[in-house]
Amino acid sequence: MSSKIQKIGVFTSGGDSPGMNAAIRAVVRSALSQGIECIGIFRGYEGMIDGEFMPLVSQSVSNIIQRGGTILKSARSAQFREKAGRDLAYKQLKANGIEYLVGIGGDGTFKGGLAFTDEHPDIKFIGLPGTIDNDLYGTDYTIGYDTAVNTVVDCIDKIRDTAASHDRLFFVEVMGRDAGFIALRSGIASGADAILIPEYKTDLDGLVATLKNRHTMRKTSNIVVVSEGDDQGGAFEIVSKVKDRLQEFEIKVTVLGHLQRGGNPSSLDRLISSQMGVAAVNALLAGKNRIMIGVQCGQTVEIPLEKATKHHNTIKPGLIELATTLSSI
Ligand code: F6P
Repeated sequence: MSSKIQKIGVFTSGGDSPGMNAAIRAVVRSALSQGIECIGIFRGYEGMIDGEFMPLVSQSVSNIIQRGGTILKSARSAQFREKAGRDLAYKQLKANGIEYLVGIGGDGTFKGGLAFTDEHPDIKFIGLPGTIDNDLYGTDYTIGYDTAVNTVVDCIDKIRDTAASHDRLFFVEVMGRDAGFIALRSGIASGADAILIPEYKTDLDGLVATLKNRHTMRKTSNIVVVSEGDDQGGAFEIVSKVKDRLQEFEIKVTVLGHLQRGGNPSSLDRLISSQMGVAAVNALLAGKNRIMIGVQCGQTVEIPLEKATKHHNTIKPGLIELATTLSSI
């Protein structure tokens, strides 16, 4: 099929997330199927500034749908936050005949895309939500979130084995600087006794009372899931604040850290990445610009980037109630 688009540049930016490779593959294969050349831009906006471009053919994306990380590598670019950096990137793109971009990343990636296309309206930009945090407005799932939650649940299941064997209380810290989605979903799925997230003020007195109650009930394992962005601090800080009042417990802390960002993407992440990658190319062909492709109820949707970056995905109060009910008895 003929189209007026000659080339699409694809890149990943910000924190990597499992499923980014599946999204790259979908963009490349869908573009090629429409007779469009696809150029891989390495190391996100940094590589755009440095002109790190490489044509991607169908075989370039073979055998990557199942791999975590990103074959295009990723970076957080300080240079691109400045107009001078964006102007350099523009020159590189124009010199290589690239006017259409698909950027896979989070909030920072999209804000960069908006500033770039404000200054250079001949560049068209479509964003795919790639972050384990699930904090972007307008999509039920971001690429990598499902895999990260599965990883956390797997880790907590293992921690629970040893917690129960020794009657210990574990505080498990998970990722999420500003968002508690990973903590809430993994906490419910792993049967946590308490879940502390940035969206809700943490009541340390309430936490101490809940845990003392669990002790009275002779529960053998106790797990508190803490989002790294909780208002009372990370897991170590919270433990230092409550340990004197919880002397009946032997307390341990596990910080899961970057292992949450790695690993083979789940089938859900592979599916949504594939759907979103194809939808991004179709959107460019339909003349769309400055939108994020999301998924809602299994279907792809187009969300204006301004909306996706201004608003935040919200925690469903029903899930908080569910977690509270299931850990109260
Ligand atoms: O935004 C994704 C994320 O994994 C956050 O959950 C976490 O706070 C942050 O990235 C860590 O970033 P870095 O890898 O740069 O330390």
